[in-house]
Amino acid sequence: MRNFDEHTITDAVLERTRDARDPRIKEISEALVRHLHAFVREVRPTQKEWAQGIDFLTRTGHMCDDKRQEFILLSDALGVSMLVDAINHPVPEGATETTVLGPFYVHAAPERALGEDISGGVEGDPLLVTGTVSSPDGQPIPHATIDVWHSDSDGYYDVQQLDALGQLAMRAKFHADEKGHFNFWSIRPAAYPIPHDGPVGQMLEAQGRHPWRPAHVHFMISAPGHEQLVTHVFEAGDQYLDSDVVFGVKDSLIREFVRREPGPAPDGWVLNVPYYHLNYDFGLKPLRAA
Ligand code: BEZ
Ligand code: FE
Repeated sequence: MRNFDEHTITDAVLERTRDARDPRIKEISEALVRHLHAFVREVRPTQKEWAQGIDFLTRTGHMCDDKRQEFILLSDALGVSMLVDAINHPVPEGATETTVLGPFYVHAAPERALGEDISGGVEGDPLLVTGTVSSPDGQPIPHATIDVWHSDSDGYYDVQQLDALGQLAMRAKFHADEKGHFNFWSIRPAAYPIPHDGPVGQMLEAQGRHPWRPAHVHFMISAPGHEQLVTHVFEAGDQYLDSDVVFGVKDSLIREFVRREPGPAPDGWVLNVPYYHLNYDFGLKPLRAA
């Protein structure tokens, strides 16, 4: 077969994938070819535009290393990460909704005891975080593992300023108590722009978009017999809730970070400055409902 033109090339490429051994690879390859060709037919790129597209992807790849994953950031900023998340995480009544993992998760976060301050001495408004972990039917899940991480009051994560901080901070791994309760202290996070000094930042600029995410605290919660939950809790009232650059906000994940006057806090600590209190009760999906 030869002499392909605009009208015959798609079928010809599909025909070549006919003998793919793995049926899933075949299905994915066919869809990729159909959608990619349809995109090119719709856009009708000039040769120069096509070269610019290749250059964009090349620069995206070159930006990646063990600390920076520009392709995931691209997927996040194009809403693909949240689309994949939505497809894979239908949420039954009583289970907490999911959202993107983001690039600032650290596998080996320091283990901390309930009630500890995880701010690592970073300055900011004190934040008390309390909550519970249960099954959708309301049964507490004892000893669930809770990974937590968030930005400082200038919007930076510890891993973006490790040289200055000298240690991980504003992140920890806890275990809920036997009734599924957890509590800890940290500082109130701020809204921040996703890393935008690379190709994704240039794309956002060209698309007339800002790079900001509303203030949030990340949670990754695991317990035997339950699906791992990856989510955040967003601060109510943040100016970016309706324009999160990675499309991660859901109403059910928004909570008031309630300002409290100095004095005794619910966990017994006595504060001599105002502080904020965030409470969130998480619901984990049982594995059999997955
Ligand atoms: C984050 O919330 O940490 C994040 C998520 C997606 C892209 C960049 C940052
Ligand atoms: Fe974040």
